[in-house]
Amino acid sequence: MFRLKNVTRRFGERVAVDDVTFDIPQGQMVGVIGRSGAGKSTMLRMINRLADPSEGSIHFNDIEVSSLRGSGLRNWQRDCAMIFQQFNLVPRLDVLTNVLLGRLNHRSTTLSILNLFTREERIMAIAALERLGIEQTALQPAGTLSGGQQQRVAIARALMQNPKMLLADEPIASLDPLNAKIVMDALRDINEREGITVITNLHTLDTARAYCERIIGMAHGRVVFDGSARELDSEAVRTIYGTGADGAEIDESMTSTAIRNPAKQDNIKESASPTPLALAGL
Ligand SMILES: Nc1ncnc2c1ncn2[C@@H]1O[C@H](COP(=O)(O)OP(=O)(O)OP(=O)(O)O)[C@@H](O)[C@H]1O
Ligand SMILES: [Mg+2]
Repeated sequence: MFRLKNVTRRFGERVAVDDVTFDIPQGQMVGVIGRSGAGKSTMLRMINRLADPSEGSIHFNDIEVSSLRGSGLRNWQRDCAMIFQQFNLVPRLDVLTNVLLGRLNHRSTTLSILNLFTREERIMAIAALERLGIEQTALQPAGTLSGGQQQRVAIARALMQNPKMLLADEPIASLDPLNAKIVMDALRDINEREGITVITNLHTLDTARAYCERIIGMAHGRVVFDGSARELDSEAVRTIYGTGADGAEIDESMTSTAIRNPAKQDNIKESASPTPLALAGL
């Protein structure tokens, strides 16, 4: 069980996250929606401890995440992987090495500096790339991949951490609809097959509805909706997004992309690799 308890984050006078409390059982897929500036990214960053709460506490089972320091904090950041809108890969490094960087928190600093990854780790990295259907890109510089491929590399890197939770901050905001669907399908697959809790900020309602069993709506730093897609009726949408600047009702199409067919695919791979281990130099 993961829990936020009365969490507030201030930046000077500004309250970015305001007294947020909720529980998330292990294995849920949660979408967080809300207008720009509602506090979605700040909340995710506090969960991963990239930012610290001004008040309140964050708990994972019997660990108080918000007070961790040193190795405890590093272990939490390993258990709680995060992916970003802009992928955050090292563009000049090849895909395989980018994925292997996900193992850094499992290793001693000396080994990390020497960049000595074990055979098992390389096999694990190739398996993660295969799972996401991009093993053929293993030796390419990450910066030469399409946005959708780069986000899949970032997911593979996150999987290398063997995380218990996966946080995603607008993972599809920079992608076209086809790649957005591939990435969302991958997150759902990880959630369902591994039972990893997924919390993803999304700027489009239809994606949240299609993929998330639970939707948390934020406005002005507060949670103003917490329920299922079915419960997210037009009144709830108004509460989350308010009215337009001209006072007009919010039109759901304003928050919409075109993932029209999110039906689950059994296999998200695009192609089979004839010699995936050879790609890893094995
Ligand atoms: N490092 C910071 N310093 C000062 N203010 C900040 C900082 N980070 C966030 N804020 C402010 O906190 C509020 C919430 O920002 P946040 O980025 O969490 O919103 P968001 O819901 O993720 O928005 P978006 O949809 O645009 O990504 C905003 O008013 C923002 O300006
Ligand atoms: Mg944000």
